[in-house]
Amino acid sequence: MPDDPGETRQQLNEQRLSERLERVATHVPAGARLADIGSDHGYLLVALMKRGVIASAVAGEVALTPFHAAQRSVRENGLSQCISVRLANGLAVIEPADGITAISLCGMGGETIRDILDRDQARLSGQERLILQPNGGEQPLRQWLMEHGYRILAEEVLRENRFNYEIIVAERSGPVLYSSQELYFGPLQLQERSPAFLAKWQRLLRLKQRTLSHFTRARQAVPEEKIQALTQQVRWVSELLAQEDTKR
Ligand SMILES: C[S@@+](CC[C@H](N)C(=O)[O-])C[C@H]1O[C@@H](n2cnc3c(N)ncnc32)[C@H](O)[C@@H]1O
Repeated sequence: MPDDPGETRQQLNEQRLSERLERVATHVPAGARLADIGSDHGYLLVALMKRGVIASAVAGEVALTPFHAAQRSVRENGLSQCISVRLANGLAVIEPADGITAISLCGMGGETIRDILDRDQARLSGQERLILQPNGGEQPLRQWLMEHGYRILAEEVLRENRFNYEIIVAERSGPVLYSSQELYFGPLQLQERSPAFLAKWQRLLRLKQRTLSHFTRARQAVPEEKIQALTQQVRWVSELLAQEDTKR
């Protein structure tokens, strides 16, 4: 089963990860005891274990078909001793005895990732590194991280097969404050302004401008707050890109 619309054209497996999962893998600390929530086929964990990066792992899946797929990948790679595949909802898969030091949540919407983190906070020791790869909904996810004292340590934007992906790595640090723009664009990405980041926002600006002009033409049918929010986003993105133009 393809785990993402952008990955349907490639034959991916535990040897050959997608570019997206390869980038996620680089953020997993050596020797980690990793819980991968929503592991689907379990390729990330199997690849990391075979490469000797992680010490042990828990694969969590809420759905039966991917749960069975992960069980099969782990069994066929002879890794049943070090990767435990469990059927459970979100963080409920983690037991204190697992001594988890890192948690990955990849290939889901940002709001879904946020809800999974929020639902079972008691399962978090606060010592784990969170490696998050949302497909959209980054702003509400960053908002949750800030409100729960997580500092963002690394961020990436990448584009694969015509889809934009983001990776957000965070650890609990105590109080942290990000501005509205930092929550929207990502605090580190806003500083770094990588070519992939700028290209993403160039594309999104065109889409947002088009949607805004549809909204303003159908003004009566669209709630005013929605128009206001989109107008502000278009302004922020335009300002961001204009600053880049003046640098050239
Ligand atoms: C699109 S796949 C992503 C798979 C893999 N993490 C990746 O990035 O390639 C999302 C997976 O998350 C699982 N999932 C969604 N909500 C979940 C939850 N609350 N707990 C555990 N798994 C969940 C789905 O069943 C699905 O297999």
